[in-house]
Amino acid sequence: MRVLVTGGAGYIGSTAVAELLARGYEVSVLDDCSSGHEDAVPSGATFIHGSLLDPASVQRAIAGCQGVIHFAAKSLVGESVLKPELYHEVNVGGTRILLSEMRKAGITKLVFSSTAATYGEPEAIPITEDSSTNPTSPYGSTKLEVDRMITEAAKSGIAAISLRYFNVAGALQSEGGWLAERHDPETHLIPNLLRASVESPLNIFGDDWPTQDGTCIRDYIHVVDLIDAHIAALEKLEMSKHLIINLGSGSGYSVMEVIRAASKVLGREIPSKITARRAGDPAILIADISKAKTILGWSPLRSIEQMVSDTWESQNAANRS
Ligand SMILES: NC(=O)c1ccc[n+]([C@@H]2O[C@H](COP(=O)([O-])OP(=O)(O)OC[C@H]3O[C@@H](n4cnc5c(N)ncnc54)[C@H](O)[C@@H]3O)[C@@H](O)[C@H]2O)c1
Repeated sequence: MRVLVTGGAGYIGSTAVAELLARGYEVSVLDDCSSGHEDAVPSGATFIHGSLLDPASVQRAIAGCQGVIHFAAKSLVGESVLKPELYHEVNVGGTRILLSEMRKAGITKLVFSSTAATYGEPEAIPITEDSSTNPTSPYGSTKLEVDRMITEAAKSGIAAISLRYFNVAGALQSEGGWLAERHDPETHLIPNLLRASVESPLNIFGDDWPTQDGTCIRDYIHVVDLIDAHIAALEKLEMSKHLIINLGSGSGYSVMEVIRAASKVLGREIPSKITARRAGDPAILIADISKAKTILGWSPLRSIEQMVSDTWESQNAANRS
């Protein structure tokens, strides 16, 4: 089976490409490298440098494929507040073009990168797929709009699964080396805390949240566990059905707990300072992952310590090259 991976030059997409190739899939990648890196695309894949917004590039990339895993997107919450039109154009408009080209090419299998940001401030913890969806950013709204568009597309013959990720971390050491998270700017806690120094300490956004140590609690999932679930999803797709499935570890860690785990792995203190709360940050986000376990026959295997140590190794490898 040949799979089109959109966004396959990005952090999560490149990990998916490496894992698909390792399992015997053929892979085509479509990426405009707006936030990804061409050198991250594993060498066994066919790379098409082009945008999702250009139907001709999508047609070229999709040729000969039987399924699509769609990662390509704009995904910075803060930027989405400043540039909502851009997020709508790429995330919603780009997916509309992809769905239309899939239909023309007779391709019916789709796995989509959705997000916990579609839920917004949760009414209850853990968050199930039936929880209400009240996104607090244009990023979350555009992903929710795409989920709804896919539900409509499934009614006329697409088999789809939207996977709603919580916080993705860690890295894969593939045959070609470490596939590091290389976002610019980097907004994720684990890569940022590993870069913290006395001169530039990690900012902790508030220590007065209603949690046991006052810092926000999030659900972290290792990128390799996340991709295992994508491949399971690809193999479980059913015609005319659109399933929505959460992907997390099902456990929460406060910022302080992640810092302690990192200190243990690195054998040194992580310099940090408390700053003001960020607007729109919920106190606690933890996924209910029972649907993923039941439907995909999947369970996350990798610990928070492994997420920290793999991120660390991959960052060191990226700094050396
Ligand atoms: N990283 C996380 O914790 C997280 C959490 C929830 C959801 N997600 C979703 O997972 C997906 C991948 O995230 P990531 O962290 O790997 O981000 P990333 O920025 O590393 O990857 C996104 C890729 O899409 C490409 N892209 C963007 N616009 C494009 C376009 N118009 N045409 C073609 N390619 C385009 C970028 O160049 C990049 O390579 C995104 O859809 C994101 O919303 C990520």
